[in-house]
Parts: sequence; structure tokens; C-alpha cells
Amino acid sequence: MKFTTGVKSIDSLLSGGIETGVITHVYGAFGTGKSILAQQICVTVLKDSRKNDSVIYMDTEGSFNPKRISKIAFRFGLDYGVLKRILYKRIWSLDEQELFLKLSEDYIYRFNAKLLVIDCIATHIRGEFNQDVLILRQTRLESILNKLLDMCTNYDVAALVTNQLTSGPDSSGEKYVEKPVGGNLIAKFCKCSIRLYRLKEKRYASLDDSIDVDSNFAPFVIKEDGIHDENG
Ligand SMILES: Nc1ncnc2c1ncn2[C@@H]1O[C@H](COP(=O)(O)OP(=O)(O)OP(=O)(O)O)[C@@H](O)[C@H]1O
Ligand SMILES: [Mg+2]
Repeated sequence: MKFTTGVKSIDSLLSGGIETGVITHVYGAFGTGKSILAQQICVTVLKDSRKNDSVIYMDTEGSFNPKRISKIAFRFGLDYGVLKRILYKRIWSLDEQELFLKLSEDYIYRFNAKLLVIDCIATHIRGEFNQDVLILRQTRLESILNKLLDMCTNYDVAALVTNQLTSGPDSSGEKYVEKPVGGNLIAKFCKCSIRLYRLKEKRYASLDDSIDVDSNFAPFVIKEDGIHDENG
């Protein structure tokens, strides 16, 4: 099943919307709109779910904004009651992130969660491990992704992880490029990877492995009530 994101051009990048049973990855530099998109998708998923369904939101950075969510909810014909259907947890450490992910399995079952968001997946991994313990870092990330994928497949829940950018050598090893934290590992677990970026005052989303560049990018704008199509 697929849920709309509320943005036609982004839905079309995702071939219809955010899919249940798989992990969707949204990454980009600071201020590109990852958290706002994640919060908007909570609303659009709830809009198209039953009244007693919920979503789970793990917030590692304190970006959750109930006021904005209310505004997004009004835009989609819901009211601030939508906030009661978002199981929110501020995550302060990597241990807590792993623990809450385990507990989420029970919440999915008890509260009919349809979506699980981690905004942003690598904050604590980066904060607690530096580059010289890369293997340890990748192992912890892999275990989180494993657990997440296991849960979305078993319960047919959509998972959305946001992620930051880091710089590292390209495949030729000759120049440095910007890529998502945990690059190949994340790609292995996520069905779809979308990059948000800004270019000449405009905002875009694009598919990571897009071959057809013309049709695989989506211009969008951010307003008080969330993310809109550029001409929406
Ligand atoms: N009302 C608004 N109108 C236009 N742009 C806005 C509005 N509110 C927020 N923004 C823009 O949204 C961006 C922040 O979005 P968001 O917090 O989702 O980014 P992010 O990618 O999660 O950033 P970070 O990496 O810091 O977590 C900023 O660029 C900000 O200027
Ligand atoms: Mg954010």
C-alpha cells in the first residue's frame, strides 16, 4: 500500500507515495526540509488511515513542531486532534534509540501504527562514535536498519528515515563528494532514497539513482503549513 505525501511531484518520484513494508530514505543538507516533510507525512498517513490508527515519531534532534503539524493537519482537513495519534519520543542517545525501536514493535501492534519515522537516523551514531571506529558505527547502524526492516515487513508498516550528508571519496577515490551518512549500508536497506537540496533559491527533491534526470526531480516549496508542489 502507498500513502500520499501531500506533494504530487514527490509522490510521483516515489511512484505513488510512501510505501508500507519498506524503508524510505530522505536525506539532505541542513535546512532542506527533511523534518517538515517527515511531519507532513505523519499527517497524510493519518488522514488516509482509520480513526484508531497511529504513527510513531522518533526525534533525535528536537525538530518536532506540534504547531506546524496542526497547521499541516488543517490544510489536509484534519484538526490538532491528529497530535494524539502521533506516538512521539524524543531520543537522547543511541542506546535509547535502539531500546525505543524494540519497544515500537509492541506499539505498532497495540496502537495500529502505520508509519514509523526516525528523524534523523544517524545523529547519535555520529555523535557517539567518530570515524576511527567506523566498523563499530556501521555495525550499530546495520542493527537498527535490520530491526526496522524486520518490523516494516512483518507488520506492513511504512518506515521513513531522514539522514544528513557527509563528505567522502567517490567510487574512483579521486575526489570528495557529499553523500548520505552510512551511504551504501543505508542503500542496502532502503527501497527508495530521495535527496532534498537547494539550488539557486529553489528547493528540489530527486531520486538517488535517477537515470532520467528530467522526470526524476521534483521542485517544491515550504510554507507555514508544510511542503507544497512548486505550483500547487
Ligand atoms: N514558513 C516557512 N516558509 C518558508 N520556509 C520555511 C518556513 N518554515 C520553515 N522554512 C524553511 O524550512 C527549512 C527547515 O526545514 P527542516 O527543519 O525540515 O529542515 P531539515 O532538513 O530537517 O534541517 P536539519 O538538517 O537542520 O534538521 C529552513 O530552510 C526554513 O527556512
Ligand atoms: Mg531536521
